[in-house]
Amino acid sequence: MSQRIQRPMGSDYLQWAKTQTHARFNLTYSGVPFLPLRELPVSLDDLELSGSGAYGWAPLQQAIADRYRVPVESVVAAAGTSMANHLAMAALLGPGDEVLMEHPTYEPLLAVARYVGATVVPFARRAADGFSVDPDEVARLASPRTRLIVLSNLHNPSGALTDDDTLRALAEIAERVDAHVLVDEVYLDALWEEPPRTSFHLGPRFVVTSSLTKVYGLNGLRCGWILAEPGLAARLWRLNELFSNINAHPAERLSVIAFQHLPSIAARACALLDANGAALNAFYRTRADLEVMEHCHGTVSFPRLREGSVDALCGLLLERYETMVVPGAFFGMEDHFRIALGVAPAVLAEGLNRLGAALGDLAQ
Ligand SMILES: Cc1ncc(COP(=O)(O)O)c(C=O)c1O
Repeated sequence: MSQRIQRPMGSDYLQWAKTQTHARFNLTYSGVPFLPLRELPVSLDDLELSGSGAYGWAPLQQAIADRYRVPVESVVAAAGTSMANHLAMAALLGPGDEVLMEHPTYEPLLAVARYVGATVVPFARRAADGFSVDPDEVARLASPRTRLIVLSNLHNPSGALTDDDTLRALAEIAERVDAHVLVDEVYLDALWEEPPRTSFHLGPRFVVTSSLTKVYGLNGLRCGWILAEPGLAARLWRLNELFSNINAHPAERLSVIAFQHLPSIAARACALLDANGAALNAFYRTRADLEVMEHCHGTVSFPRLREGSVDALCGLLLERYETMVVPGAFFGMEDHFRIALGVAPAVLAEGLNRLGAALGDLAQ
């Protein structure tokens, strides 16, 4: 009888996020509110249904390359960071390969690695250490079968930033075993640096994925990309012939327009996240029942409930207070939960009030 490997056929987290998160005070979505089309200066004349660009539409390729100061040959456009991650892992991993992956992590990263047949070896990002990455631990876990080291920067769920020295240390480990380092940077532009930082510049071992989805509120455009050294980028383009083949051309055109207006789109998001970050920190200062690092950047925060069950808290929140957060179980940490900041300030304020009330109920 043939042995069939159990592969995940979906993402439990994404299914939950797509079908269960309808609360009035919804603090689950990790991006900023969607930008409405009317806020982009677009006319019908800017659009076209089809365009030339078998391996990427040149103006969009150039817009991504210019923004991140990378050669255009290193840019592979993909349908969101989701497809970018899938393509990168499908190209770099096969059955029997090992992937060292941060824990906690965004569950679809884990699911994709398993889907392509790789064995996932977790390395811990510990709450007590501010969810930092410990390169010594990664070095201990690396083996000749390691093909990829995967992390998100900023980290989902905690929002922690990994500094360049740590990233370089990971690249050295990858170099020793002939692996790559995949950095999912979908939240990194929320540092608001100009030009934006990317680990792509730290060396040829890095493969970077990102998109305009989260930080800029452009989820519907599906404008994602991979940054990789040109030889790997060419392989990724070839592999994409088996996935989405080409990207939707109207979306490519709208994405170029979005890049042209990114400063004002970013200013909108930055103002919202700054205000909400301050409100969240003020809330945390009143809560001895939560253990959490001060929020300083990004769109999410990941407190630990010191006592009691997060499941019970989430149940109370929904039933009594019409409020939702993401249970830490989706990230493999059942005593934590994730709060997202990308909502209107009034929604966050009321959501936090209600969270406070539910925490009070839980303690009784
Ligand atoms: C770490 C991480 N990567 C990728 C994604 C998906 O990004 P996109 O919407 O660009 O596909 C998410 C969404 O939550 C995420 O948290």
